[in-house]
Amino acid sequence: FDTDPEHRPLYGKHVLITAGPTREAIDPVRYIANRSSGKQGFAIAAAAANAGARVTLIAGPVYLDTPPGVDRIDVESAREMADEVKKALPVDTAIMVAAVSDWRSKDFSDEKIKKRGSAPPALMLTENPDILANTAAGGKRPRLLIGFAAETQDVVENAKIKLKRKGVDWIVANDVSGDVMGGDNNRVHIVTSSGVDNLENMPKDAVARRLIERVAEALESEDN
Ligand code: CTP
Ligand code: CA
Repeated sequence: FDTDPEHRPLYGKHVLITAGPTREAIDPVRYIANRSSGKQGFAIAAAAANAGARVTLIAGPVYLDTPPGVDRIDVESAREMADEVKKALPVDTAIMVAAVSDWRSKDFSDEKIKKRGSAPPALMLTENPDILANTAAGGKRPRLLIGFAAETQDVVENAKIKLKRKGVDWIVANDVSGDVMGGDNNRVHIVTSSGVDNLENMPKDAVARRLIERVAEALESEDN
């Protein structure tokens, strides 16, 4: 990009990104989580910062370095992530890449749960807040709100349904039927109300650059 920051495509824009898994405590030593590495979300944060944006990255527990020029806020649970997202608003665009745990243990046990008797404990679950849907419905909705959707089947069809159900502008549908989780490549489809852009399988940082280019175009066409 142009060495003069003011000439970069996202100069003056504030971009919020969530990334990584969330971790939902069961007791002091155990938790529920998922396989997200955070790589795709961190790559998008890096690409947005490169494009000149002010970037707030709200990250679940991951083993990744903070990209240069990015403000990172670490969280653990979905509820912590939801609180930090609320605090970060308003922004121009939010890209929610985090693999938020859909459920958490209904009753957190202050003490480590012990084996006793013969029956294993029954784990009761309760649903976490939907951070993306709540942001879409809230008073400070970003003008460009983007969700990710990891799917193993009917990838684009499911994304179209999610786009409507969550009230967002774009869904980046992520085909995780191969070895995407934790890997360096990704195959995505950008689903919007006006159509589907099928991207090739490519490195996660290339996906990030393509997505950020499109974001810059969309924000610019709204500005004019
Ligand atoms: N998401 C969120 N809060 C949640 C669950 C999901 O913000 N509690 C966001 C994710 O960050 C992602 C999008 O919603 O951007 C879609 O997540 P996904 O898990 O695909 O959707 P769900 O509605 O949870 O549906 P599913 O049953 O397929 O998991
Ligand atoms: Ca989910």
